[in-house]
Amino acid sequence: MRIGLSFDLKPDKAPVNEYIDDSMEEYDSMETVELIKSSIEANGHQVVLLGGGQAFLDNIYKENVDFVFNIAEGQGNYRSRESQVPAILEMLDIPYSGSDPLCLGICLDKELTKKMVAMEGVITPKWQLVTDFAELQSIDWNEFRFPLMVKPAHEGSSKGVRLSSAAMDMTELESEAKRQFEGYNQALMVEEFINGGEVTVGITGNKPAQVLAMMRILPRKKTEHFVYSIEVKRDYLELVDYECPPKLEAHIVKRLEDASLKIFKILGCRDFARIDFRLDKDGNPYFLEINPLPGLGNHSDLVLMSAMLGISHQELIKKILSAAVKRYSPCLPQ
Ligand SMILES: Nc1ncnc2c1ncn2[C@@H]1O[C@H](COP(=O)(O)OP(=O)(O)OP(=O)(O)O)[C@@H](O)[C@H]1O
Ligand SMILES: [Mg+2]
Repeated sequence: MRIGLSFDLKPDKAPVNEYIDDSMEEYDSMETVELIKSSIEANGHQVVLLGGGQAFLDNIYKENVDFVFNIAEGQGNYRSRESQVPAILEMLDIPYSGSDPLCLGICLDKELTKKMVAMEGVITPKWQLVTDFAELQSIDWNEFRFPLMVKPAHEGSSKGVRLSSAAMDMTELESEAKRQFEGYNQALMVEEFINGGEVTVGITGNKPAQVLAMMRILPRKKTEHFVYSIEVKRDYLELVDYECPPKLEAHIVKRLEDASLKIFKILGCRDFARIDFRLDKDGNPYFLEINPLPGLGNHSDLVLMSAMLGISHQELIKKILSAAVKRYSPCLPQ
């Protein structure tokens, strides 16, 4: 097939913002784009780079592609930004990989996602959405158990999540919330901090979707309140150990697998996703958030955990692509 690759590139120079240095964190590097391109080519297809934003609009009209492999994160600070490219592709009736605009829109909204899965009985940390600083001060936080985690409500790639985001008391909660309100211009999620370990689960396929890999993230330096923050993700080779498969009791692994597949289904995900959990001291899994468009670069969790199971990048792309193509067959050239 002639496959278009839609993506948003990290600009050479990030816009200057006095509060934050991670505004472009979710966008991909050219190295990642080239890696995905070569993995698609290795699966026997021709690849056309479509880019994102205006370039994508120009190219999708010009290039006659059979299918789009989509990793575009979308433009702007909108919570529906990941839906932009799939929505255009649906309008033009062009088949594409990954979840649809509705799913991508919901999943970038952390509260909406948690409401949907909690309604179906999935355990998730107790939370409160806060839209501004005055609202934060008006809430009776005695109803919550500190530490409390503070994070932007409509971000991914750990944007905004720092080591300081685990607030031990009211003073820390206020200063962290202030920092995030100023830097990220959106509502914040304040959640009870779950402190028994961190696990991420990769899923691929449809009907049935399957757990591809599960990985525990272990801090190298013992800390009382580990946060897999942006500082840690940027320096993961030094700061964390990855355990895949995780050395967890079989019944905990089973609960994580069951919860993951259930969440994938509730949210209407397709082809692939990565789901983050925290465990409490008794090993109960708490759903944190889902990434229906997880990173596919060499340093991304899904790629790292696949590699630890001997699944190459090329094989991972093949799984995603063939799950997507199968949804459209027999209408597509193979
Ligand atoms: N309720 C919580 N309790 C403990 N730690 C938490 C909680 N919420 C978030 N964290 C920590 O913060 C990290 C980032 O949070 P989260 O996964 O919600 O953000 P994200 O930006 O969507 O992540 P990603 O980089 O996976 O897209 C988590 O991996 C975890 O270490
Ligand atoms: Mg996460």
